[in-house]
Amino acid sequence: SALFKAAYEGAVIATSYAQILLEKAIKDHGADTPVKYPDTAYRLPVITALSGEEVNVLGDLPPILNRIRTSHLREELTFDNAKMAGEATHYAADIIEALRYLHGARPESPPWTGFLPDPILRKFGVPLVDNTIPGVAVIIGKARSSKEAAKLIKSLQSKGMMIFLVNEIIEQLLEENVKLGIDYIAFPLGNFTQAIHAVNFAYRAGLAFGGIKPGQRQQQLDYQARRVLAFVLALGELDEVRVAAELGAIGMGFPVITDQVVEEIPDWFVSEPDYDKMVKLALELRGIKIKIVDIPVPITVGPAFEGETIRRADTYLEFGGGKTTAFELVRMVGPDDIEDGKITVIGPEITDVKEGDRLPLGIMVNIYGRKMQEDFEGVLERRIHYFVNYGEGLWHVAQRDLAWVRIGKNAAAAGLKIRDIGEILIAKFKSDYPAIVDRVQVTIYTDQAKVDENIKIAREKYAARDARLKGLTDESVDTFYSCILCQSFAPNHVCIVTPERVGLCGAVSWLDAKASNEITPTGPNQPIAKGTCLDEVKGMWQNVNEYLYNNSHHTLEEVNLYTLLDRPMTSCGCFEAIMAILPEANGIMITTREFGGDTPCGMSFSTLAGSVGGGLQSPGFMGIGRRYIVSNKFIPADGGLGRIVWMPKELKEYLRADFIEQAKKQGLGEDFLDKIADESIGTAIDEVLPFLEEKGHPALTMDPLM
Ligand code: SF4
Ligand code: NI
Ligand code: NI
Repeated sequence: SALFKAAYEGAVIATSYAQILLEKAIKDHGADTPVKYPDTAYRLPVITALSGEEVNVLGDLPPILNRIRTSHLREELTFDNAKMAGEATHYAADIIEALRYLHGARPESPPWTGFLPDPILRKFGVPLVDNTIPGVAVIIGKARSSKEAAKLIKSLQSKGMMIFLVNEIIEQLLEENVKLGIDYIAFPLGNFTQAIHAVNFAYRAGLAFGGIKPGQRQQQLDYQARRVLAFVLALGELDEVRVAAELGAIGMGFPVITDQVVEEIPDWFVSEPDYDKMVKLALELRGIKIKIVDIPVPITVGPAFEGETIRRADTYLEFGGGKTTAFELVRMVGPDDIEDGKITVIGPEITDVKEGDRLPLGIMVNIYGRKMQEDFEGVLERRIHYFVNYGEGLWHVAQRDLAWVRIGKNAAAAGLKIRDIGEILIAKFKSDYPAIVDRVQVTIYTDQAKVDENIKIAREKYAARDARLKGLTDESVDTFYSCILCQSFAPNHVCIVTPERVGLCGAVSWLDAKASNEITPTGPNQPIAKGTCLDEVKGMWQNVNEYLYNNSHHTLEEVNLYTLLDRPMTSCGCFEAIMAILPEANGIMITTREFGGDTPCGMSFSTLAGSVGGGLQSPGFMGIGRRYIVSNKFIPADGGLGRIVWMPKELKEYLRADFIEQAKKQGLGEDFLDKIADESIGTAIDEVLPFLEEKGHPALTMDPLM
């Protein structure tokens, strides 16, 4: 095939180009200049994943590049050799790109992203495993027109796809005002060799979640082919280097669909000039199944818009946020008290107000389902936040009677009505929760008197639910739940979710797991009857161990739920925070995905994360959900809350009220939070220690941690 020849030639060009740039960089900066990407634990990920060399400085790279040129560039034109040429091109591109980051340079200016740091990969862990994001599209090149480019992206966004963009299509989309960036799960990487940042992102998934060791090339390629549901759309004229890089993608199991006429490689490199058919073909070739939910509203609805913010100046109509009364409530009702599919707006519609106005809001969702339980009301109610946010031009924050909603000018101009919020909620509740939701009715109040009247009902419900949650302790239930959702990326990882220990992603509580099990009895959340307790202090149960052994593919035999130090829970990769021991302070520190800086254990979040994932137990280090910190079951076997000596300011603020309450409960006093150091005190242990001593931090006088 002509493609094989192009791939060979492309690989020769790319590796030669890498060599020239590398020689120049060594000449300009010196062979001992450190080379790395920002905020990653995986050095140059293509090299780390495939051959595992520890690249530290520029001088480490020439032997690797030479070896790849000899081993991967083979003149005989076969499919296998073309894929090897592609892999060589990926090596070359990763080297070329890394050279742009020397001396801590940040070569990209927004919205272009360049290299995507590890926290972004980890952040998208859960939506990728729970199928909110069903797959990944990499689009390289130039579409026939900007309009068609925008249409193609919309179609992918409405399906929830994660999108990587390279070359001119980025300018085309910007021209059409398509929203791009990390918040929109559409990453404009850059041009030419910047395409490698899609590849090194994928390889890092295998390293971070899959527990695949550096250099385990075959396992890594199998992982990509089986678990990373990606494809490439190659638009516009193809050149040799592009073809080579795309053959490299094929080597990872990602099919390529081009709008050009080529001599096809069946199932792998195929032509489809019609953009309307292209996405469907790509999904079929990669085996991505998408549940299409048609929602009759004039805006696009998809997870791409969850991160969209609508500023006050772009707001057409606003509800709540402390300026007007607002609340939302999901209630279980009987079969006769509901009219399925009915939406009623009581009070002014958007057509009755003018731009910039505010209205009160009450969203009442009534649900009937034969398998619905009162316990699931809160689980479903929290979905309102996501579902409303998924609307392009709709913005939602907080929950319950703190809800805050904005309708953007763009959505208003598209003809969105307040009642359409009801359309979105009904469609999403029915499609996402078919097993527990049989009928849905939505009433939206925008009339002040009606909101005031109904908010009383809502507040009674909230209070009752809170009382129920308070009574829901690990002791009060006889069943825990597993979560193995993340096994699609971290094959041996098992979360044990208890009433007082949320999953490490922060997204799965015991009630969530229970509801999910009701919805899909054979799904990722299985009940585990507690049975015999083997160690009350450390939190070990026989049945939990048994479940773990069977579901970690026999890699783990025992787990303790209440300690960090002895056979602790494993981590997949999508944890919200990580805790680590600080022996010098006889305590532990916690850092978060959001905190990019160094920490007193000498590692940033990304570096720490790189050493705990992949479904392994690593005593002394553990991924956790943020809310776990304020639980009664926060490492009680190790001394509980009093062990925390350092955490980022932002986390302190996030937890403040609950933290103070919990500190009082554990006898640590009201001001304990202020005894914990943060980055303003220091990020080195010798900056932190004097502070702890001065404050009389309790960890210093506790039993030795190790
Ligand atoms: Fe993944 Fe654990 Fe969260 Fe489940 S609870 S989605 S396994 S991190
Ligand atoms: Ni230099
Ligand atoms: Ni995970």
